[in-house]
Amino acid sequence: MERLIIRGGNRLCGTVKISGAKNAVLPVIAATLLGQDRETCLDEVPNLDDVRTISELLRSLGVTVRHEPEHNKLFVDATTIENITAPYDLVRRMRASFLIMGPLLARLGRAKISLPGGCAIGTRPIDLHLKGLEALGAKISIGHGYIEATTPDGLKGAQIYLDFPSVGATENILMAASMAEGQTVIENPAQEPEIVDLANYLNLMGAKIRGAGTNVIKVDGAKKLIARDYTIIPDRIEAGTYMIAAAMTRGDVYIANAISEHLKPVIAKLKEAGVTVIEDVDGIRVVCDRRVRAVDIKTLPYPGFPTDMQAQFMAMLTVAEGTSVVTETVFENRFMHVDELRRMGARIKIDGRTSVVEGQTRLTGCQVKATDLRAGAAIVLAALVAEGETQVAYIHHIDRGYDNLVQKLVSIGADIKRVDC
Ligand code: EPZ
Repeated sequence: MERLIIRGGNRLCGTVKISGAKNAVLPVIAATLLGQDRETCLDEVPNLDDVRTISELLRSLGVTVRHEPEHNKLFVDATTIENITAPYDLVRRMRASFLIMGPLLARLGRAKISLPGGCAIGTRPIDLHLKGLEALGAKISIGHGYIEATTPDGLKGAQIYLDFPSVGATENILMAASMAEGQTVIENPAQEPEIVDLANYLNLMGAKIRGAGTNVIKVDGAKKLIARDYTIIPDRIEAGTYMIAAAMTRGDVYIANAISEHLKPVIAKLKEAGVTVIEDVDGIRVVCDRRVRAVDIKTLPYPGFPTDMQAQFMAMLTVAEGTSVVTETVFENRFMHVDELRRMGARIKIDGRTSVVEGQTRLTGCQVKATDLRAGAAIVLAALVAEGETQVAYIHHIDRGYDNLVQKLVSIGADIKRVDC
């Protein structure tokens, strides 16, 4: 099994370049199923296991997919789609596989997808996805671990209110509505930058979407969407993770290719913690020459503090001055990193969706494991300041969402290597 071996204590200094966003590229790859008449070339595609998984999924539908990770490019030819079934072994690996439901219904009027199931951070239901697709005219049946959907009368525009601004549900509904007859209005949609990126890509293909990034999105359905080339936005969560690494190690790091507009809550909280953050058009510089101050964080849908940054921020709070309170409002079980941080000496008390994090901890290196993607990132961050050596197991979780993590950290001075043992 591969592990990361990290020796703590180095200040991180230098420049690290952010890759394309995992949570933008996955819906955009799903949306390539809508593009007809030519091949799509996607640029700034991050080199991630999740990209390989969704590429495998599209190939299982009979779609031609060519991945050039060394050039950060992905080529998709969806002129013909031969199969409408997404198998269990692929969907269970990656929940975002469910994002092909909307495009398949829009393109072919049929889809059969294995139920995604839960994961480490929560049950992660899909009721809002199904509510939206049924409002558009889909007939849904569930049995034998699969969801089957058909559109006997085609997809027709509808008024849809999302009880929760679900990112995935907004994306599935957007893609289905982009080819529905008439107008769809989505109220209380997700407003994440990745939603805007998907809408920009769909509009480039001929969709008519207005209001992405706000609390009402209007979609006028198009009869056909033409495949177009597209460049993925940078990954705000990867950028935020390196910002925390710079702050925790009292370093001076320039995060190139980061869009500060997408990171306002994270920047605000780092400044509140006494970290110097300097934004410019090409990136963000993070400088810290002292112990950070304790701050309270509460995760919320965008534009609130991102749940995908909660674990990483908590790692930093374990070595802050004073006690912090971390509240997770988006997922019901996103404190899996706490047990691993405790093994390293962190003093954290969990009470439901709130954790109380005592600061000034002397973290010590030991054997730990990644339980999920962002928990794994949090453990790596803690190991960068822990005394001695930390061995991180189950790093396949980290490989799902961080492109070239070891090389990027080594390039700014971290003592980290990947070993097979
Ligand atoms: C996306 O997941 C991201 N994944 C997640 O990033 C991110 O944490 C999440 O949005 C929230 O920002 C991708 O974009 C591939 P949701 P998604 O639907 O779409 C409940 C990472 O680390 N819900 O917004 O699955 C759900 O249970 C990953 O990069 C319903 O109740 O998130 C959860 O509590 C982790 N019914 C909340 O909404 C539904 O039908 C947020 O889920 C759908 C969701």
